[in-house]
Amino acid sequence: MALPTHVKIVEVGPRDGLQNEKQPVPTEAKVALVHALQDAGLREIEVTSYVSPKWVPQMADNAQVMAALQRRTGVRYAVLVPNLKGWEAAMADPAHRPDEIVVFGAASEAFSQKNINCSVAESIERFAPVVQAARAAGVKVRGAISCAVGCPYEGDIAPERVDLVARLKAQIGVQHVGVADTNGVGTPHRVQRALEAALRHFPLAEVSGHFHDTYGMALANVYASLELGVSTFDTSVSGLGGCPYARGATGNVATEDVVYLLHGLGIDTGIDLDRLIDAGVAIRAALGQTTGSRVARALLARRP
Ligand code: HMG
Ligand code: MG
Repeated sequence: MALPTHVKIVEVGPRDGLQNEKQPVPTEAKVALVHALQDAGLREIEVTSYVSPKWVPQMADNAQVMAALQRRTGVRYAVLVPNLKGWEAAMADPAHRPDEIVVFGAASEAFSQKNINCSVAESIERFAPVVQAARAAGVKVRGAISCAVGCPYEGDIAPERVDLVARLKAQIGVQHVGVADTNGVGTPHRVQRALEAALRHFPLAEVSGHFHDTYGMALANVYASLELGVSTFDTSVSGLGGCPYARGATGNVATEDVVYLLHGLGIDTGIDLDRLIDAGVAIRAALGQTTGSRVARALLARRP
């Protein structure tokens, strides 16, 4: 199949990236990151999570972050929601509601228990009323399928597990699924099998890749996804992050690296790479860190 001509990047750094930071990140730094990302041309940004602050303290300022955003027309702002309590909290302030929510389940039973404290079947039961409420309110629902190729607790995950969870998500009205390689163990052909399982239940435009880069395979997995026609990817500026319930997993593939790959392939993203690099440098400086993006490092070294 010919590669897509346009790719949609969903920037997950403010959520997937920062959720893993041990040090408290000031709300203003989170908001400044979202603003810098939209200035760089990102049109879909995962801003925060409405999860239990006992489980992920870093996301406890979810409502303050949403309230402080200076929203830009054409940008869609998404938040993670694990249950009805999270949905109600996300919708509580009518002036600052998300455009999209993400319900997050897993293809692995063990990871489901560790991450959201319930079985895969229970998670679907929990999500069903959230999806119903969101659709009634005109809020798009995406679903993440964690551990779609491997699990830190169970090892390899068969594509049949992804097929099952994608089918269950489609049945309850989830409109999009992200195939997530949570601990970054996937290699291109295994990732393609997982994506094909999701594609049996969702159209091509509603399946995305969410690749963590623990083993350095994420860019290869992005290319393998493009070969199937997949044209939406979750990425994290400067490679921020990981998952607090997947020990040892690193951040998502760096947005800068994916944008460089795509532009090199002649694929349009609408993103200004220089401004994106500046957004990554600024948040890493606020964290006392340096960028995790190879492309950012290379291009920064060439700046006068
Ligand atoms: P639980 O303990 O089973 O929940 O946690 P519960 O319903 O029994 O409630 C326990 C307490 O939590 C109660 O408070 C509730 O009010 C509160 P208490 O009475 O003890 O004071 N609570 C909440 N508070 C705020 N917001 C809520 C909420 N729900 C309950 N929404 C729960 C179940 C799902 C809440 C918990 O396990 C949780 O919050 N998990 C989130 C873990 C997480 O955020 N992980 C990272 C995001 S997923 C990810 O990164 C993967 C992804 O990137 C894809 C990939 O790479 O794989 C998406
Ligand atoms: Mg993730």
